[in-house]
This record gives sequence, C-alpha cells and structure tokens, in this order.
Amino acid sequence: MASITIRQLDDDLKQRLRLRAARNGRSMEEEARIILGDAAALQVKAGAARDQAAAPDRDDATDDARPRRVLATGTQRVVLIIGGGIAAYKSLDLIRRLKERGLAVRCILTRAAREFITPLSASALSAEPAFTDLFDPTTEFDVGHIRLAREADLIVVAPATADLLARMAGGHADDLACAVLLATDRPILVAPAMNPRMWEHPATQRNLAQLAGDGVAVVGPNAGEMAEAGEAGIGRMAEPLEIAAAALSLLGKDAGDKTIAFSSPGSSSNLILLTLLKQTGSKAKPVPTGGVPGTYTQTMTGQIDIGWSVVPFALKDVNEGKIRIVARARDATELANQTIRANLASVSSLKTKRETIIKFMQVIEKSIDWAYTNPQAIEIFAKNMKVTPEIAKQAVDGFFPKSAMQIGEIKDLERSLQDALEYKFIASPKTPADIAGLFDIVYKPK
Ligand SMILES: Cc1cc2nc3c(=O)[nH]c(=O)nc-3n(C[C@H](O)[C@H](O)[C@H](O)COP(=O)(O)O)c2cc1C
Repeated sequence: MASITIRQLDDDLKQRLRLRAARNGRSMEEEARIILGDAAALQVKAGAARDQAAAPDRDDATDDARPRRVLATGTQRVVLIIGGGIAAYKSLDLIRRLKERGLAVRCILTRAAREFITPLSASALSAEPAFTDLFDPTTEFDVGHIRLAREADLIVVAPATADLLARMAGGHADDLACAVLLATDRPILVAPAMNPRMWEHPATQRNLAQLAGDGVAVVGPNAGEMAEAGEAGIGRMAEPLEIAAAALSLLGKDAGDKTIAFSSPGSSSNLILLTLLKQTGSKAKPVPTGGVPGTYTQTMTGQIDIGWSVVPFALKDVNEGKIRIVARARDATELANQTIRANLASVSSLKTKRETIIKFMQVIEKSIDWAYTNPQAIEIFAKNMKVTPEIAKQAVDGFFPKSAMQIGEIKDLERSLQDALEYKFIASPKTPADIAGLFDIVYKPK
C-alpha cells in the first residue's frame, strides 16, 4: 500500500485529523487510512450516502467520514437561522424559495424552534444537515460554529423572535444561532415575527435600532391577522417570497435591472406580475411579450430576462434544467383568494334561458369532477397539449389543484374592484354594493 504523507495536508485539515485521531486513540496515518476506506465504501453505496448527507438529526449524523456537500462554483450559501415562533413553519417554504433561486441553504434551529418544526423537515428541504447544538462534539468537529459563520454569503434569521433580537443586540453567544451571528462578518438579514405588543414594546424597538446601527438589514414585519385568535396589528413575519427577494438583493442578485415578461396590458399575467413586483419590492421592468410561444422564443434568445408561461408548456425544459421557475402565480399572496374567471351572459339570456344556463353550469361541474377522477382525462389533456402523459400529470398535480376550479362563487371582489381602479379599468371607486346587480350566481354546487 502506498504510504500516506500527512505533511502534504494543509494546517487546518491536519489539525482536524490530529483531533479525530486522538479522540479515537489512533495514529494520524491509521486515522487517514480509515477515512479513505470509509470514503471508498461510501462511494460504493452512493445512493445510501446521498441519503445520509441529507440526514437531519445530529444523532444520525455521527459519521465523520460522511461526504460533505461540495457547492458548484459560484453557488452562494445562505445560513438560515430559524427562531422559536409560530411563523417557523413558513421558514420551511423559505428554504424552498431560496433554493429555487439557486442558493444553497444551511439551517440552524434554536431550541425553541424545535418546538415548532423538526430538524428533519429543515434538512430534507435544504438537502443539508440541520444544525441545532453549540456543544454537539460531532457538529463542532465536523463543521463548527466558526465555519458555519464563515461559509455563508448571507445569514438570514427568520422568524427572528423578540428574544433572539434581544440576544443579538446584546452580543450574546450562548447558543449555536447567537454564536454564529456573533462570529460572522457576512451580511445579516432578520425577519422579525411576534405579537404586535411585543413588537411595539420599547425594548424590542431599542434592540432593533441597535441592530440597524450594527448594519443588520430588516424585512417586515407586516400588518395583519396574528396566528393567535383575535389578534391583529404589526408583527406578522414577511412572506417567504419577500424575504427571498430581500436576501437576493443583499447578495447583489436583485432582478432590479432585469426585464420580466407579461402577455398584454390588463391580462392576468400582467396583474400577477405587478402584484409580485409590489410584494417583493423589485424594480424589475415589466415588458408585454404576447402569447406563450412568442415569450418562450424571446426568453430563450435572451431578448427578455425572465419569461412567463402556463404549464404544461415549457415544463419539460424545467425538468431538464434549461429553465428555472423563479415565481408562480400563487406566490402573489394578495391575489390568492381572488376569483379570476367568470362566465358572462346577457341580462336577457339570464331571464329567458335561466334553466339552460343552470344546466350548462351543472355540466361544467360534472366535467370537473370527471376530469379529476378519471385518468383518461390526463391522456386527453396530454394529447391536446402535445405533451407526454407524465408531463400532463405533473402539470395537473403540481399546478392545477381541483380546489382552484371552484364554481358558483365570486371571492375577494373588493380586491378586484381596487385593482380595476388602480389599473384604470374603471374611472372612479366602486363598492361591491355599487355593482351588486352585475352578479348573478345562477348555480352553486351543493
Ligand atoms: C406557542 C408559542 C408561540 C410563540 N410565538 C412567538 C413569536 O411569534 N415571536 C416571538 O418573538 N416569540 C414567540 N414565542 C416565545 C419564544 O418561543 C420564546 O421567547 C423563546 O425563548 C424564543 O427562543 P429563540 O429566540 O431562541 O428561538 C412563542 C412561544 C410560544 C409558546
């Protein structure tokens, strides 16, 4: 067997090897042989090793030789610190949003955060082990709080609890989250989330002013209903999409100088895009590009930076990694509850052919039921759209839930009226009462 020359290792690696060898009562050479043997065995079991790399619990992640994730050149890493607030569940979506935007994500969960979500979920979504404990010997030897702090391009704290903000402002380092925050020289973004009274408290505002003075960036909190029944005010954590946009901006990857397509003025793609831009504070420039095929060509030839599409069109390109989804219509949370399609009929038809119109709506209802229970529908959809049945099924499962096909009701009319005024479809403000006669729900499913 070829000999191993420990001298050729860099100092940091040598020191870690020395520590590991001492812990196991072996010489450094013996330890290096064991690591190489383990690595070879791991390569054979590549599939199993991949799962292990994503293993969440520190208890499971005790193998020092497990493969470490190597980032593609240029990939930026966010360390996401999840605090112990009700909004912790939204951080799981934030992990997905950050990854969608091409960022690698490592999560640290505070002790309190683990009361709300598990390291397993955070690690499965980030595809990296989730870190929890400052005094975990495996973590400390393997990655360590200093490396966690250094191997980040940005640290995001979401939700940032009142307590975490206080500890940050005071420069504490009594847990892994705070130790990493104190040890880093990278930008920090906090997304506070708490009860409105906690938010308004002079102590919280004092801590926040201190953090702002220290150069910490803040996104949110927003006004709205709290998770606690009957509570409202400022304190809701910013939406994951807003936090992701703020993170990209701090990483210098804002879409500010980019062009983004919509189909034509007044279309749903236009309203969705304007809402998304407003929601994320993006300064990207909306450009009308017409239908899906034209937009596709313009995007693929670089005439426009970010295109729009309706699945199943271009879903194959997404699967093949040629296109990345940066936002979806459902991300425009302000529009999430809005009815976007209504059938129009003349007033006289509604009077003279009411029974026929009711039957028509019943047929629509039955067709929807049929389409969502009969696999044949996917085949027909695939054929009509000229895509494979797999792509058609992926489009329906992932983008067109049956719940989006509700008939017999019009939701969030107030918002539609506001939009109509803002986008100049109507000249003066209208209330639902003003237009009451325009709506006639002829049939509502039982
Ligand atoms: C059900 C429940 C919900 C909570 N939600 C919040 C919250 O939204 N914001 C907050 O600042 N604290 C909240 N707390 C209190 C924090 O969990 C507590 O201050 C904890 O010490 C924060 O720890 P951390 O900052 O290390 O995560 C909540 C506590 C409970 C029991």
